[in-house]
Amino acid sequence: MSHETIIAPSVLSADFSRLGDEVEAVARAGADWIHLDVMDGHFVPNITFGPPVIKAIRSRTDKIFDCHLMIAPADPYLAAFADAGCDIITVHAEAGPHLDRSLQAIRNLGRKAGVSLNPSTPESVIEYVLDRLDLILLMTVNPGFGGQAFIPAVVEKVKRIKALIGSRPIDIEIDGGVTPDTAPLVAAAGANVLVAGSAVFKGGTEAAYRDNIAAIRHAADKAGPRKRTASIKRKETA
Ligand code: DX5
Ligand code: ZN
Repeated sequence: MSHETIIAPSVLSADFSRLGDEVEAVARAGADWIHLDVMDGHFVPNITFGPPVIKAIRSRTDKIFDCHLMIAPADPYLAAFADAGCDIITVHAEAGPHLDRSLQAIRNLGRKAGVSLNPSTPESVIEYVLDRLDLILLMTVNPGFGGQAFIPAVVEKVKRIKALIGSRPIDIEIDGGVTPDTAPLVAAAGANVLVAGSAVFKGGTEAAYRDNIAAIRHAADKAGPRKRTASIKRKETA
């Protein structure tokens, strides 16, 4: 992929009765990564799916599986998500007391390690784990549901995270309320990976997904010249 901005559709907004077909459709429509929202009804007030479902759709595409764990605790399940075929495994900083340990565990499983921050969580929590990170996922909604409104205060946090990262090869991913209207705000602030659920899957057809992805990508890419740090590739296809 030569695009500057990586688009990661969240299957949370897909038709779950046809999940494998939806993954194939959104991949053909231009998705760079597939974003998988795992919720436990405890850390967040919603329940989605786990490793068996991810394993079942793994054969449908060779795109990067970008797994966003909204579960607490996360550590007991990291190996299962790695075995299911997740390439990136992201834990929430708020989900456990031992973030450094969780990130080490993910890398020891041979996967890329991500940390996610809720909108109210300050960027300082990642200061001492920067060298264990491949990706930082900044929530621009309170996690749990698709289709919520983008929280603009997080744009300032994107800028601060960008400064904290310095020259390290860490992706900055944004999740929640991403649309062609909000994408430029975070892209200009330094984000290079955009998750979008409802804004990608609206319309319900592959043709609609293609238009929706292109609209978000175009809006982000024209937001201005930025230094790209996107570094994550699938081992199997490299
Ligand atoms: C929210 C999830 C998001 C969600 C985004 O907890 O982490 O990935 O699916 O949905 P939209 O793009 O509709 O805000
Ligand atoms: Zn997510």
